Amino acid sequence: MNKSTNISFVVIGASGDLAIKKIFPALFSIYCQGLLPAGFKIFGFARTPLSHKDFRRRIAEHLTCRYASTESCSTEISEFLSRCYYLPGSYESRESFLDLYELMRNQEQGLNTNRIFYLAIPPSVFLDTSRAMAGAGLVVCGSNPQWSRVVIEKPFGKDRQSSDMLTRELARVFSEEQTFRIDHYLGKEVTQNLMVLRFANLVFEPLWNRNFIESVHITWKEDIGVRNRAGYFDEYGIIRDVIQNHLLQILTLVAMEKPRSISATHIRDEKVKVLKSISAIDMKNIVLGQYTAGEINNNKHVGYLDEKSIPGNSTTPSFAAAVLKINNDRWHGVPFIISAGKGLDSRTNEVRIRFRSIPDNIFCDKPECLPTNDLNIRIQPDESIFLNIINKQPGMQLSLVETSLNLRYQSAFSTKIPEAYERLLLDVITGDKGLFIRSDELAAAWDIFTPVLHEIDRLKIKPEPYPFGSIGPASAARLVDRKLYS
Ligand code: NDP
Ligand code: BG6
Repeated sequence: MNKSTNISFVVIGASGDLAIKKIFPALFSIYCQGLLPAGFKIFGFARTPLSHKDFRRRIAEHLTCRYASTESCSTEISEFLSRCYYLPGSYESRESFLDLYELMRNQEQGLNTNRIFYLAIPPSVFLDTSRAMAGAGLVVCGSNPQWSRVVIEKPFGKDRQSSDMLTRELARVFSEEQTFRIDHYLGKEVTQNLMVLRFANLVFEPLWNRNFIESVHITWKEDIGVRNRAGYFDEYGIIRDVIQNHLLQILTLVAMEKPRSISATHIRDEKVKVLKSISAIDMKNIVLGQYTAGEINNNKHVGYLDEKSIPGNSTTPSFAAAVLKINNDRWHGVPFIISAGKGLDSRTNEVRIRFRSIPDNIFCDKPECLPTNDLNIRIQPDESIFLNIINKQPGMQLSLVETSLNLRYQSAFSTKIPEAYERLLLDVITGDKGLFIRSDELAAAWDIFTPVLHEIDRLKIKPEPYPFGSIGPASAARLVDRKLYS
């Protein structure tokens, strides 16, 4: 990075959960690693009245010293906080953004400043905010030596149509080149390893197809409820919240063809091709669930319908599982079973590649008498890659046992595993778009789920109940049975 170029990092919605818990701590980590230019500044903007001091105090509550030189890192913290400024204002007000502009110009040293705008606000205020920012002349466009970039967070709309509208309207203010659509699962370390695992090792790619792989399972579980995001969640549901974005992104990295190079364009071209090859989802291959009262680790939890701010008759699913089929030569006939749920028995996200059984196994007297090989790629927690293989049990007799080749990140690598937002924010600063969603990719992802979501909404399909802390609805387990889908 060119240390003589300044960066102003502007967080709109700076009083919110995402800003305080994720964005500022990630910027602090990047700062502690010496990756921010010497003159960087951070500007927070939201409606809540806060002084610079209050704002700094709020930020400080969530900073950690992971990358700092001392345990308390008080020097780094006070140096970092001294560069943070706050302005209260209204999202739709040009005058408010003119005030912000003035604050920025007063604090930015010299003219050589690039600007990153992070829209950490609910989607309902995206457009008004962007227009007011543009009206105040805050956003630099075209061929200036200084650039402006915008980071926007999911959900990018609620279906293909609303997403297209959002893309079109935001494009009036920010060009596609300037826009960084964040999906923080792409910033997770193991997600980034998927391409490396497939394309930098000779052993996997020859087997990575319908001839050797029986099924692919992508599972996402959370052992918490909707917490303080109930209003948002009830409007969107688990398919829009997690499956259409995080899980579909993981699926594309598992299923795509080898890109011509690791450039952002080539990677994203291949991801779009996979998304476009996914067949329409059959409603009989979907299971929806909603948690009821239950308990986890001896703690009781209310049911979804009794959560604060959730209407008592809500049919919003907190769990969904679906079978996706990819209609191309590599994957024809291989089910991709994806499932995601809140209020389950653990917090995990993993990809399981299940290989086929050996057709003529000399160690068995009947087909499928031994477990198949499974490659388990755990994205979180406890990042790891396991390959289950069949071995001879040591001893005088020939008996076979299933064991596992393990790669546990914690023990295999001595380096710290970066938080997803740390990596992604650094990419925004350096302008690397490989881990961000391009507009055609977004449209293709919505095309897969829009018909299903409309059908669910139209029919007001009642989700199947499952107790909080369980493995989810009983029908989801049956979906995994190959015979249930054609
Ligand atoms: P919040 O609900 O905390 O909202 C952020 C800020 O926006 C609030 O502090 C509030 O600031 C302002 N705000 C809230 N509701 C409204 C409203 N109805 N009208 C105008 N302003 C409002 O959201 P998060 O911080 O959780 O998320 C921000 C964005 O990031 C959202 O798009 C969310 O979907 C997305 N996201 C969040 C994640 C998270 O972990 N929190 C994860 C992934 C995506 P003030 O009142 O001071 O103006
Ligand atoms: C967000 C979803 O995108 O990801 C939340 O909106 C979910 O519902 C969160 O809790 C999970 O992120 P992580 O990084 O904690 O797995």
